[in-house]
Amino acid sequence: MSAFLPQQESSIVAFFRKLQCQMSRTKYRYNYEYLADIAVLDKLHWSDEPKLEWVKVVAARAGFLLKNQLHVAEDQIQRQAAHQKLKALAEAKDAEVILRRVVYEVLHMDGLGVSDSYRAKSMSDYESIFKGIPLPTVATNYRCDIEFGLKRLMGANPVMIHHVSKLPDKFPVQEEHFKKAIGALVSKIVSGSSGHSTKVALHTHPDAAWVTKGSSDSLERAADEGRLFMLDYVDFVGAEQGTFPHGKKYLYAPMALFVSALGGGPLLPIAIQCEQTPSKSFPIFTPADGIAWLMAKSIIDIADGNYHEAGTHLGKTHLVMEPFVLASLRNLAWRHPLTQLLAPHFEGTLAINDMAWRHLIADRGAVDRLMGGSIATSRGLAVKTVQEMSIRDSMLPMSFAARGVADQDRLPNYAYRDDAQLYWESISKWVSDYLDIYYKNDQDVQSDYELKAWLIELNSKDGGRLRGLPSPEELTKSTLTQMVTFVIYTCSVQHAAVNFPQYDQMSYVPNMPLAGYRPAPGSTDEQLSEEDYFAMLPPMDMVELQMNLGYLLGTVHYTQLGQYAKGHFKDPRVKEPLERFQKQLKHIGTVIQERNKTRSVYETLLPQGIPQSINI
Ligand SMILES: [Fe+2]
Repeated sequence: MSAFLPQQESSIVAFFRKLQCQMSRTKYRYNYEYLADIAVLDKLHWSDEPKLEWVKVVAARAGFLLKNQLHVAEDQIQRQAAHQKLKALAEAKDAEVILRRVVYEVLHMDGLGVSDSYRAKSMSDYESIFKGIPLPTVATNYRCDIEFGLKRLMGANPVMIHHVSKLPDKFPVQEEHFKKAIGALVSKIVSGSSGHSTKVALHTHPDAAWVTKGSSDSLERAADEGRLFMLDYVDFVGAEQGTFPHGKKYLYAPMALFVSALGGGPLLPIAIQCEQTPSKSFPIFTPADGIAWLMAKSIIDIADGNYHEAGTHLGKTHLVMEPFVLASLRNLAWRHPLTQLLAPHFEGTLAINDMAWRHLIADRGAVDRLMGGSIATSRGLAVKTVQEMSIRDSMLPMSFAARGVADQDRLPNYAYRDDAQLYWESISKWVSDYLDIYYKNDQDVQSDYELKAWLIELNSKDGGRLRGLPSPEELTKSTLTQMVTFVIYTCSVQHAAVNFPQYDQMSYVPNMPLAGYRPAPGSTDEQLSEEDYFAMLPPMDMVELQMNLGYLLGTVHYTQLGQYAKGHFKDPRVKEPLERFQKQLKHIGTVIQERNKTRSVYETLLPQGIPQSINI
């Protein structure tokens, strides 16, 4: 079916378009009670269940997980359960109903996880549960301080780091802390010791030479040259701590200071304070503080992991896109050009979101088990991020500028920024070319009454309840291009950036534990041992659950950005700009591979790893 603007239709076709939208509005209703006040679908229709091809991709991953489970489970009942599910998967190859049932059971994490809650005795315990699935590289280098800095630039949550011209009063890092930190980093390199056992130590890191070159650096100079950056998890102040399933868990509101090394080197961690108010109980730790430093880094990673799952991933991709899906279905007829452009980018989103809030973030679900915050904390953060998100301010270039991280000289090696920008520009060009086919000028946009209804509903109290959208009068070709670019970018690139590291960054738990199990270290003089560090990390049943969930959610790649189904666009005028877009995506892949030859490898945003839609 070719695409047409509603105002160009004959009166009879316009009548049927209106009828179709009315029917859609009955089928897709908003609900504002499931997730506090934000808009989600009231009831999933069978026609929006995932396609069989998607189920097969998930089934393949579930098979690997179940095989892994067979090797890992010490409990006979657990092994039997995994064996039975594997058998059901094998027998259900062509029986869609059974296949769907088994896949959904695995997605709900029923019967996965070790039965006993025991503590790791050594690092090898965390590695020993990777039997049938590959152990992520971070297992070999996560303790390295340079890798801790890199995690902010190319990890699971690469959107938290922000520039500071001067440190806030609540985080009183002094010149002496800075000197101590740089001195400790240099000494770890010179002495060839990382300070703790790890397979890749600081001195063997390819960027180690930058640290020694910058040994004369100072806090004052770094501030003057705009090289100071911070993480601040202030959103967790007063957050209710979780208790399920093993009792008290710890989630702090920590802060960390980083310096972009002199001369364009890596981002180095300088100091961590585990709470917002400086005190004797929450001193400033530096890389000179041995096990306490290791534990302070984990406290940052725990806060980062909690923010990542509830805010950056669930809130700012899955949930913020749901109103766009619903408003499009309810207001834009099938023949509308935007329906045809956006439908592939919305595939599977209603279904995966329905599953997420009904199971994953339900009381006593996987998120409740894993996170340091209570389930109310996680749900509350997800809701808050959607409610506070201004669409206008969320355009990628603006978000980098707002965090003060756009300047490549001040902050080099920001792989996520550099790769994501390439996609933003290409998607913007593709959207602009596509819209040019149908809208000759701003008046055409203004006369599109389906589009106006779509925009009004996205923002209205009984619609999508989104913030920071243009007003109907501000709707032009330019503002529409921006909005549609934001939607396609978020459904594809941004979701990929934060979803797929759930396997390579988060399934090996010491790299990104989701909850603490003992208090933060209380002083720089406290005598701490590796046992104290292990006591902070989750018990092994949670370690295994996090691995399972991370592997499953982080390895399901279904569809690829820019690869629309054959014949999807019936309008011959789309062919040329689409081919241009696809060529551009291929070129981005080459650029990323070239970049990876001279930077720390970042493969998350290679084109083949970016699906069209949020479907996992
Ligand atoms: Fe996701």
